[in-house]
Amino acid sequence: MNALAVLLLAGQASATYLYVASYSGFVSTLNLTETASGIDLDIIAQDNNCGAIPSWLTLKDDGTLICVDEGWRTWPRGTTAIYSTNDDGSLSLLSSVNDVLVGSVSTVVYGDDDSHFAIAHYAGSGISAWDIADPSVPSMIQQEIYDLEQPGADPVRQEAAHPHEVIKDPTETYILAPDLGADIVRIYSIASDATLEPVEPLEVPAGSGPRHAAFAVIDDATYLYIVNELANTILAYTVTYTESGMSFDEIYHSSIYGEDGQVPDGVTSAEILVTPDQKNVILSSRMDKSFEIPAFDGDGSVTSDTLANFAIDQSTGVPELLQTVPAGGMQPRQFSTNAEGSLVTVGLQGDGRVVVIERDVETGMLGDFVAWLDVGGEIMCVVWNEL
Ligand SMILES: *[C@@H]1O[C@H](CO)[C@@H](O)[C@H](O)[C@H]1NC(C)=O
Repeated sequence: MNALAVLLLAGQASATYLYVASYSGFVSTLNLTETASGIDLDIIAQDNNCGAIPSWLTLKDDGTLICVDEGWRTWPRGTTAIYSTNDDGSLSLLSSVNDVLVGSVSTVVYGDDDSHFAIAHYAGSGISAWDIADPSVPSMIQQEIYDLEQPGADPVRQEAAHPHEVIKDPTETYILAPDLGADIVRIYSIASDATLEPVEPLEVPAGSGPRHAAFAVIDDATYLYIVNELANTILAYTVTYTESGMSFDEIYHSSIYGEDGQVPDGVTSAEILVTPDQKNVILSSRMDKSFEIPAFDGDGSVTSDTLANFAIDQSTGVPELLQTVPAGGMQPRQFSTNAEGSLVTVGLQGDGRVVVIERDVETGMLGDFVAWLDVGGEIMCVVWNEL
């Protein structure tokens, strides 16, 4: 290769950024770079336009970043901020709305060209839908607030409806919202005008507290995995589509640590994710304090909660516990992988830290910590942008 070709290649060198939402009030951009000795993480940009406590981030394919603030400090309203993401890692604010129903904890984009997004409002007991065909003028097209006829099996946590996440089904015709308060997964058909029309929900056992869910598609089969925050269980279903909605057959139900797992008191499980190769389903558990690991700065040790890594049987969809590993600190509220599925970033709410764990894409096993950074504040969400 001649010198010019080398220069041209270097000019096209791709970048990997992580956007991190923290209760510090900042959305930070981390520059993730591979070095001879491992991976480096550095904060290269910070923005504070997403309300007081940014809680969730969704990156559109076109590079638009949607941020929501949970709104606890500006009750009963929160903020939504929409940014364009720049090649140098910085964010440019396109618009913000500060009278959003409180308790935004998750967003999902949908519709042609992802022209819309939905929000799950945990504290606000509802969902909303927004038109962002022009991201500089977002407009709410729908808001639903739910009442419970009576409290659930856990009267403290299930005193009201608490949608905790919004996800799209693999056919992109439905949106699902696990409702921690109502012990159902709300299901909406996406109408031609992009409004969300409720269809028959999925009921889970009383007291489960469904928080997050993830789909796997393996050959012609579709599976749904749910992590239940209150019961600290994982539920798995085969999914079939009917004339009027979706139907579910339970194929697995165990503790978050598998069949024989003993869950300590005070644990609240949080995130669940299916790896890009559909081979593993990984969930996180908060406050089990199961591990004592060497401190990342080399001084003493730190206590760590758990990631539980299940292998998905490729012919039945049934998960089987493969390993439990330290999450890298306390309260792994959310985690995500790169597109290849070879690196897992964990946002540690309790420790204000982001860690990167390597994943062997052949075996599906989670391995060592390959990077860490104290970002500050309670880390709520980390998303990847691989340019
Ligand atoms: C990211 O880090 C790499 C390696 O240190 C550096 O070359 C690059 O300029 C950084 N990017 C930004 C936008 O700071």
